[in-house]
Parts: sequence; C-alpha cells; structure tokens
Amino acid sequence: MNVVRIAIAGFGGVGRATANLLLARRERYRQVYGADIRLVAVCGSRSGLADASGLEAERLDALEPDLSGPAFIEASGADILIEAGPSDFRTGGPGLAYIRSALSAGRDAIVISKGALVHSGPELLALARSSGAMLKLSGAAAAALPTIDLLEHSLKGCEVLEIEGILNATTNYLLDAMMNRNLGFDEALRRAQAGGFAEADPRNDTEGWDTASKLILIANFGLDADLTMDELVVEGIQSVVAHDLETWRKQRLVPKLVGSLIRTDAATRAAVGVRTYPATDPLAHVSGKNKAIRITTDAMGETIAIGSGTEPLATAAAALKDLEHILTARAVRSTGVSGGKE
Ligand SMILES: NC(=O)c1ccc[n+]([C@@H]2O[C@H](COP(=O)([O-])OP(=O)(O)OC[C@H]3O[C@@H](n4cnc5c(N)ncnc54)[C@H](OP(=O)(O)O)[C@@H]3O)[C@@H](O)[C@H]2O)c1
Repeated sequence: MNVVRIAIAGFGGVGRATANLLLARRERYRQVYGADIRLVAVCGSRSGLADASGLEAERLDALEPDLSGPAFIEASGADILIEAGPSDFRTGGPGLAYIRSALSAGRDAIVISKGALVHSGPELLALARSSGAMLKLSGAAAAALPTIDLLEHSLKGCEVLEIEGILNATTNYLLDAMMNRNLGFDEALRRAQAGGFAEADPRNDTEGWDTASKLILIANFGLDADLTMDELVVEGIQSVVAHDLETWRKQRLVPKLVGSLIRTDAATRAAVGVRTYPATDPLAHVSGKNKAIRITTDAMGETIAIGSGTEPLATAAAALKDLEHILTARAVRSTGVSGGKE
C-alpha cells in the first residue's frame, strides 16, 4: 500500500469539509488506488495540528496554537498540499506562500482559493513545470461545476472558440430574486445575506470580481492563455435598476451575470457583465444558486454543463476529485499503466 500524506492549509468551512470527506473516503482510496491516505497536518492562521501517522476526525476540533505557516506544513512531510485559505486576487493572499513552498519542493498542490492563482498563475505554473509537481484547481475554478476538466478531458483536441459562464451562485440567486420576486438590488441582497447566501461584504460577488477571477483561471489554466485582471472589462449587477428589470420582463429576456471569452487567432478577449437570454436558451433556465458554462468549439459545437451542490461539501468534493486525478497520474508515473480500477 502506497502511503500518501496530505496537509490542509486554511481550515475554515471548506478546509474542514475537505478533511472530513477525505477521511470518510479512505477505504475508497485504498480499494481503487491502492493508496493509504493520511491527513498529516492541518492549520488555520494561528493554530494547527500535525501527526505523521495520520490525524483522525475526532482530533480536528482541538487545534494547537502557533502551528501554522508554510514551514509548518513542509515539516509535516506532506506529499500533497490542499490550500483552502482566504482568497485575495490583489495580493495573492496567504495561500500564495503555501503553494509556492509546496510546488518548489516538488509537492503536488490542490488549490481551492482563487487569489494566488489569479495573482501569480504563470509563476506557479512555471514552478510546477520545473519541479514536476502537479497543480490542480477545480475547487477554485467554479468547484462543483466542471470547467477546466471539460477543457482538459471532454473537449480534448478541439479548438475552443467561445466560453460563456454563469460562474457566481450569489449573483445568479440575486438576479433571480430581483426578476421573479420583484425585488430591488438592496432588498434582494438583504434577504440573501439573512439567508446566508451572500457575504456581509458582497462586493467581490456583486461587482463581478469573483466571476472575473474564475474566468481568468479557466482561460489561463484551461486554455493556456495569459489573461490578467487589467485586461478584463468587469461589470457587476450592483447597477441593475428597476427600469432594467421591467424592460427585460416585457421583452421576455432573462438577465445573467456572465463571464465571457472569445478566442480568435489574434487574441483572447474576456469580459464580465450582465447578458440577457431568451427563454429558448438553456442559460436562461440556470436558476437560483446554480452555475453553468457553455463552451463552443470548432469540432464539437456547443457543450453546456449546469451544476451546483450544497456548500461546503460540493467544493470539498471538487478538490478531492483533483486528488483522484493526482492519484491516477501518480500510478501512471510509477507503473507506466493507467492507475485505479475505474
Ligand atoms: N465557501 C464556499 O462555498 C467556497 C466555494 C468555493 C471556493 N471557496 C474558497 O475556499 C476558501 C475557503 O473558504 P471558507 O469558506 O472555508 O473560508 P473561511 O471559513 O473563512 O476559512 C478560511 C480559513 O483560512 C485560514 N487562514 C487565514 N489566513 C491563514 C494563513 N495565513 N495560514 C493558514 N490559514 C489561514 C483561516 O484561519 P483562522 O480561522 O485562524 O482565521 C480559516 O481557517 C476561500 O478562498 C473561498 O473563496 C469557498
């Protein structure tokens, strides 16, 4: 049995959900991949826990003070880092140091926060390529909605011409509430915050930055583009007013906050803003907290995926999908044949 040691940096809702799902799936990893998965370290900003023989779920409620930081994670002997800290695309956030440290030492990284990947994507990709480490980011790139996986696997070999994505659940929920329950932006936001569907500071979602971040990750990691935030026109839903809603209702159009990308021989152009769709368009039916992506390729036409899932479990599951891809790739590397029984 091949021992694979995992560390999780960032131990809030998503980090904890990932730890619990990882521990619950250990038997699956043994049976399918012949891998003895051990959670050897977890940490938040100021506390953590490490045990080379593997942490059990019942110990995860009692983190110890002063155990945190990239050096703490490195000292745990982890083979794979799962990074689930706060996201900040303007600075890279605390995740950047953890991811740099893992990749430069040749350790695989599964990244759930978007900030470091948006801020320093090309540098992190170069680090991974030079050390031979794998860098996976399903949790960051719309999580339960498959995006990069579609590009890397399902549409392999095709030329991607255009992508449209409803990539932010909060704004989709808000626009739905504004259109169907006749609420203004402020009231819809207040209700979403009361229901826990919107952050206390919602600007990252409502001004379009979260959608823009995901679009950049899909472009840079899924299409090998080199987009930066400065190159995107980013407009959110905060300026949608009653008159807009009334006009769309009259015209039987459904508004969605969309991240869009068009590729030509000359360039990749990307933007975030409200688009409207007639009822005949599948994107018009992506309701509530669902997300969706439409990818148009030269040879396979239009592919649409729609999905969501209950958070934080869905994001944890997306990160652990990445883990299974890594276990498969590791098996191929070591044996030369496809890993896993699936
Ligand atoms: N929630 C979702 O549904 C969802 C979905 C997709 C992606 N994401 C992304 O997943 C990430 C985590 O989300 P969350 O909801 O779990 O956030 P959260 O509950 O706020 O947890 C963030 C965690 O990061 C820790 N942290 C902060 N600075 C750190 C540092 N320097 N070193 C190590 N840990 C540090 C915090 O530690 P302390 O507790 O000590 O402050 C906390 O444990 C975010 O980037 C988010 O954008 C979330």
